[in-house]
Amino acid sequence: MRSFLKYFLLVSVFTFNVEFLLPVSGENSIPMKLNGSHDILQKGKFLFLKFCAHCHGSRGDGDGFNAEFIDKDPAELSDPQFQAKKSNEKIFRAISLGGSKIKKSHLMPPFGNTLSEEEIWALVAFIRQLDKDKTLVVLPRDVKLVRPEMPEMTKQDIVSFSKWFDKNGQTKEQIDAGKILVRNKKSCLGCHQLNEEGGRIGPNLNHSSFNYKPEWLYAWISNPQHFWPNTKMPNLGLKREEARAIVSYLVSFQPDEEIKKYGVSDLLKKYLSVKGDSKRGYEIFSDSEGIANCAKCHLVNGFGGVVGPELSFVGTSRTREFLLESILDPSAVISSGYKTMMILTKDRKFVTGIKTNEDESGFYLMNKEGREIYIPKSKVKKFKIQKMSTMPGNFKDLLKVKDVADILAYLSELTLPAMTASVH
Ligand code: HEC
Ligand code: HEC
Ligand code: HEC
Repeated sequence: MRSFLKYFLLVSVFTFNVEFLLPVSGENSIPMKLNGSHDILQKGKFLFLKFCAHCHGSRGDGDGFNAEFIDKDPAELSDPQFQAKKSNEKIFRAISLGGSKIKKSHLMPPFGNTLSEEEIWALVAFIRQLDKDKTLVVLPRDVKLVRPEMPEMTKQDIVSFSKWFDKNGQTKEQIDAGKILVRNKKSCLGCHQLNEEGGRIGPNLNHSSFNYKPEWLYAWISNPQHFWPNTKMPNLGLKREEARAIVSYLVSFQPDEEIKKYGVSDLLKKYLSVKGDSKRGYEIFSDSEGIANCAKCHLVNGFGGVVGPELSFVGTSRTREFLLESILDPSAVISSGYKTMMILTKDRKFVTGIKTNEDESGFYLMNKEGREIYIPKSKVKKFKIQKMSTMPGNFKDLLKVKDVADILAYLSELTLPAMTASVH
């Protein structure tokens, strides 16, 4: 709530620079200038911080944290020369269609399958005032206010994918086609790493075959918003054949030798060979008096804490091997968006927690107990992102092999009904 207010105040300062015309319905009506333009700019700013700032920087200077990891410099949107060259329509098209459709770098993702036209115009308006540009931004009369509805995944889609994948999924032809899409056509490497290359906005994809079930990869990349409406990954508008080929490539991908080898170690095998009892697993998972007390941090079907990721359908998305590794060695792979940050304050106190947000004035953290903490930047002496997970690393010693096998059996049963029948 607090940050909401701040946006409001900040943004209202800019409204002198952009005049906003909102569409009016009816044949004879003249477009009306509304003094509500700060609402639009506020929306533009919110969207920009969520979807664009990691590459373009929070003020559009081209210096987001992710810029150094990608092969093409993000455009410097605040630059007067850039602004002078581009019409509003051109900027709108770039955001909507992405780089590859306008003969620019494929690393600039398309947002037209994810955001409404009105939201993209709000981004254009926000970009215009970065340079105090006076160009008038006018909302077209027939602007769409709702986000595009992209096709949902049905059980049939998944069944048909599974069949296809068993037969053709690992052919050279498909793998090569997927490789070209991932590396040269779609924006995956703008946000994801393969080997040492690529952005760091989303999770590293080096170990996709170990981490994700192929059906899940297919479902997720076809329509991320369907599974997580709030995700930062845009819908890339992939055709069915494209999504299939991309999964083929990711599942076959072997990272370079130097990168830590994954695979099913003897230790993991020991646990995997024990047959688990999911009912007992549920009890261990949710017993608030027990040693594990996983539910303290994880939400499952509406119950539990929010320190860690929701696990309501991990049985659909993650392989058993990955789930097991997440329990025994949580720091091996830290889920996207759950990095632990350590702050040393000017009065020499250490504060540790998961960074949930950041704005001009400070950091928002969530500590192990699920408490939200706000630390103003003016009080920060130093900060560091840690390699350690906030999830306890000693379950391997605290829990018996059978306990872990039971928990694993429970997690494997947490599935999405719409996809379950077919996922093996
Ligand atoms: C993964 C990084 C990344 C993200 C995220 C990203 N961009 Fe870009 N963007 C780029 C790169 C790289 C270019 C440069 C493309 C080129 O010049 O070939 C670019 C270029 C642009 C351009 C200029 C296009 C032109 O005509 O020259 C605009 C406008 C733009 N981005 C807006 C946005 C907006 C708005 C968002 C958020 C909704 C966004 N970008 C998100 C990487 C990104
Ligand atoms: C603009 C950035 C962006 C682009 C482009 C992008 N992703 Fe993502 N992706 C993310 C983020 C961020 C997440 C993590 C979810 C989140 O935090 O919203 C994610 C998550 C994922 C996941 C893990 C899903 C899970 O179950 O946790 C996979 C797999 C994935 N992306 C694959 C791809 C592929 C393949 C492409 C290209 C076709 C791609 N992504 C393009 C940002 C992006
Ligand atoms: C103190 C809070 C806490 C407790 C207790 C906890 N976790 Fe976690 N867990 C986290 C956090 C934070 C993450 C994300 C960071 C990471 O990947 O290590 C996570 C990640 C995970 C993941 C990976 C999810 C994904 O999709 O990437 C699984 C699976 C998991 N935990 C299972 C468990 C189980 C099972 C238990 C109980 C034995 C447990 N956790 C106890 C905080 C906790």
